[in-house]
Amino acid sequence: MKKIIFSLLVLLFSCMAGTPVLAARVIKLGVVTKPGSAQNIVAEKFKELLESRSGGRYTVQIFHSKSIGNETEILQQIQMNTIQMGVVTVGPFDTFDPIVRVINYPFLFRDNAQADEILDGPLGRIILDDLESVGFKGLCFSENGFRNLTNNKRPVRTADDVRGLKIRVMASPLHKAIWQALGANPTPMPWPIYTELEQGVIDGQENPLWVMVVYKFYEIQKYMTLTRHVYSAHIDVASLMWWNTLSPDDQAMIQEAMREAARFGRRDNRARNAARLALLKEKGMIVEEHPDLASFRAKVAGLKEMKLYREPKVHSLLLKMLE
Ligand code: PAF
Repeated sequence: MKKIIFSLLVLLFSCMAGTPVLAARVIKLGVVTKPGSAQNIVAEKFKELLESRSGGRYTVQIFHSKSIGNETEILQQIQMNTIQMGVVTVGPFDTFDPIVRVINYPFLFRDNAQADEILDGPLGRIILDDLESVGFKGLCFSENGFRNLTNNKRPVRTADDVRGLKIRVMASPLHKAIWQALGANPTPMPWPIYTELEQGVIDGQENPLWVMVVYKFYEIQKYMTLTRHVYSAHIDVASLMWWNTLSPDDQAMIQEAMREAARFGRRDNRARNAARLALLKEKGMIVEEHPDLASFRAKVAGLKEMKLYREPKVHSLLLKMLE
């Protein structure tokens, strides 16, 4: 139903606005996080590549640090072509197109190499293409990273230690279900969350290592556990309404610039993780590097039987991946 309403809106806007208005040469690109973040590094690289390859025909304006809203609001603006592009975490796509849940299944990806293989392979393509039904042109996946738990109450080694912790989660029914299954008290909240952590509104959160460093969570979170429970990607998207006004040559140029920026981002992120971990320890965080992951896996195992994963197009692929 959501998809039908969206298609009608696209038609209406196209008729009202007319093609020339949509053919912007200034590309507004939204990321919710600040300079130095994994998202912003990809956005900056994309800007550099596209502006030079297009000989200045395209200019990319990056709106970061929530200056145009949270990730859900960024996606809504991309759908309506108020802004043309975004680098947005998979989590909040969940309420727009539940097909994305399949790649946020806990403990799905063993390592970076497997994540790349799946996201750059046929399953990744199915997901990117499906986004067209809700108004996005899915270009590629860039890296956020493996998510780890931090909290301010106690060290967490086994899943039982999570019980009752108030953990912030992204706007994603799947992420909420994961932390419910683990016995926590999941609290959906848009980014950023420093003040909420500082004031004790929530006990903890989960994110890749770069987040704990760039957002200085070592100042307000005592314990970190390397759970690596979800491989988190960003989806690099364009407004489908805008995309359809571009020539095939420009589409190819933009697609390639974003793919290259995403590859750059993955390399950059991975190269820095060891130093980040060392820094977080140096700053005083108590890090559990070898948690009992079997206890975590056991608690979330039932999730794959849930309706969340009954997306017909991808369910069989998911089961294959979980074999
Ligand atoms: O937790 C989130 O909301 C995301 O991981 C973040 C920090 C915005 C980066 O993608």
